[in-house]
Amino acid sequence: MSLIEQAAKRLEELRRAGALTDDESSLVTENASGKDRQRVPTPEAAVRALDTRGHDAGAALHRPAEDKRASAETASAAAAARATRPRVEIDLERLKALGYVTPDAPQSQIADEFRVIKRPILRNARGTPTARTRNGTLVMVTSALPGEGKTFTALNLAMSIAMEVDHSVLLVDGDVAHPTLPDLLGVPPSPGLMDLLTRSNVDLADALVETNIDKLTILPAGSRHRRSTELLASEQMANLLAQLASRHPDSIVLFDSPPLLATTEARVLATNMGQIVMVVASDATTQHSVKHALAALESCEIVMMVLNKARKSDVGAYYAYYADEDAR
Ligand SMILES: Nc1ncnc2c1ncn2[C@@H]1O[C@H](COP(=O)(O)OP(=O)(O)OP(=O)(O)O)[C@@H](O)[C@H]1O
Ligand SMILES: [Mg+2]
Repeated sequence: MSLIEQAAKRLEELRRAGALTDDESSLVTENASGKDRQRVPTPEAAVRALDTRGHDAGAALHRPAEDKRASAETASAAAAARATRPRVEIDLERLKALGYVTPDAPQSQIADEFRVIKRPILRNARGTPTARTRNGTLVMVTSALPGEGKTFTALNLAMSIAMEVDHSVLLVDGDVAHPTLPDLLGVPPSPGLMDLLTRSNVDLADALVETNIDKLTILPAGSRHRRSTELLASEQMANLLAQLASRHPDSIVLFDSPPLLATTEARVLATNMGQIVMVVASDATTQHSVKHALAALESCEIVMMVLNKARKSDVGAYYAYYADEDAR
């Protein structure tokens, strides 16, 4: 049998097995009178049939039935895992109406304000070749007192970072006693941070909630626990943070948190963070409270202040700056 005949035979076998289409494997030749149409392998198909593709397809053709079953089972298990992984559709229209940044309105004033706030955070997270920020991708949003705008700031920052090309964001609800993110984002009760620290049968993959914003994932607070402060201070929490930080090198892990002066959880969380965003409600929080709160953040190298709810005539709605040593 000539090489061409061998190739034609092989191609026919492959075509019957569905490994090749008619078009890609052969061309139709006909004699001058238009009669005697016949298929012959194209030169490329002939080479492929006798070379690599023939081997691959041949291997597939002769794979034992158990192998095929096993790979089908693995594929359907992976599909089932994907289907059961928690996912939430965030109501972006509602958030927009509440004044939040949303990816479909990148030109809004609020979007611009949070661009200014996120830039130094992303710069610090990346660090420089000579100076890496310790835990630079772990960022916590906090404030001295309740109601200063921590959750508002954390969610807006998360939305803004999710619009980045080179970064994604994991928004962690660290306000474990009074979580408000679930209501805002429509996350149903599900295992979260506290469950990862208390239940051995809960995996990180079970707790992470994907969203309709590609680059935004949420880790809910999970079940309340009366020893939440101790759990947040535990070795297990340190391990979890290391796991979260190493999940995707370009992902920012952003924590919403309780107020520093009203709870102990925020202070404990702060000890593991590379960067802190300290929200200060303009015309509401006293200098004394701010100083007191900053004193609780001594262990963190980078503390950035965000003035919230400022009158627009003053400095724009927001004004972000680094807390210098004199203010502490
Ligand atoms: N800059 C802002 N513009 C408009 N609304 C704001 C702004 N900052 C905060 N708010 C609103 O103020 C209220 C309190 O804000 P938020 O819940 O973010 O505060 P918090 O510091 O997280 O409070 P808590 O300490 O109870 O967790 C919310 O209704 C929020 O939408
Ligand atoms: Mg809050």
